Amino acid sequence: MKLSASQLRDFDENGYLFLPDCFSSEEMAVLRRAASEVFALDRQEVWRESTGTPRTAFAAHTYNEAFRRLGAHPRLINPVMQILDGPVYMHQYKVNAKAAFDGEVWQWHQDYGTWQRDDDMPEPRAMNIAVFVDEVTAANGPLMFIPKSHQKGVQKAGHDLETTSYPLWTLDRATVTQLADEGGIVVPTGAPGSVVMFHGNLVHASPPNISPWNRTIVYLSICHVDNHIRRFKRAEWIAHRDFTAIEPLDDDCLKEFARDALEVE
Ligand code: SIN
Ligand code: MN
Repeated sequence: MKLSASQLRDFDENGYLFLPDCFSSEEMAVLRRAASEVFALDRQEVWRESTGTPRTAFAAHTYNEAFRRLGAHPRLINPVMQILDGPVYMHQYKVNAKAAFDGEVWQWHQDYGTWQRDDDMPEPRAMNIAVFVDEVTAANGPLMFIPKSHQKGVQKAGHDLETTSYPLWTLDRATVTQLADEGGIVVPTGAPGSVVMFHGNLVHASPPNISPWNRTIVYLSICHVDNHIRRFKRAEWIAHRDFTAIEPLDDDCLKEFARDALEVE
């Protein structure tokens, strides 16, 4: 998959691209099963909400084969290499559950704000890919983005260690109000297999999920290899230290895994 010139312009201007139907229902069934497998693991990488329900499985590409393949999928890695203009490595990988009834808030933040402050990543030459594993609707804690906010650079932020189980550099209300008055707020929704690519400085958040429907999303945080982090304060499985360029796999890598898995059953 290659992004068109108008998609690249759109990304530059608004800070995100929404790509419905990137993956088939067969491919997503494999990932849905993989998500329930990793959330059931008792490992340090799997963080829980205050109720004990899973919140995030970090580095799932290092201990789950389906997520390993997703992390090198050409439909994701090739467009990112186009946007970041060269070879890329995996800075962070997370499977976020946002479970029915219990999934808690992600406060307003910029991911690059954290990568710069905590990991000493030199430039915002890094971005996120969100892959919807469940259907994302207005009701189940969708992602909210402030278009064009990536153009304003890193905003001042406070380190919130209390609101949720995951520490985050969050923006204050005045900053969010001003940015949203200018750019509005968009809430991409869609079927499993939809993808959102967004700039490391794009301001985003998501509300709690009080609906009866799960909202699992996988995030690949990808950085140009020359822009790798310089500071190793956070655990290796949160901010990776393997800066090897990702070699995209074949386009049918997940489909093949689905067929192999069915055969052994
Ligand atoms: C994030 O911003 O890193 C996660 C947000 C979410 O999963 O809702
Ligand atoms: Mn984020």
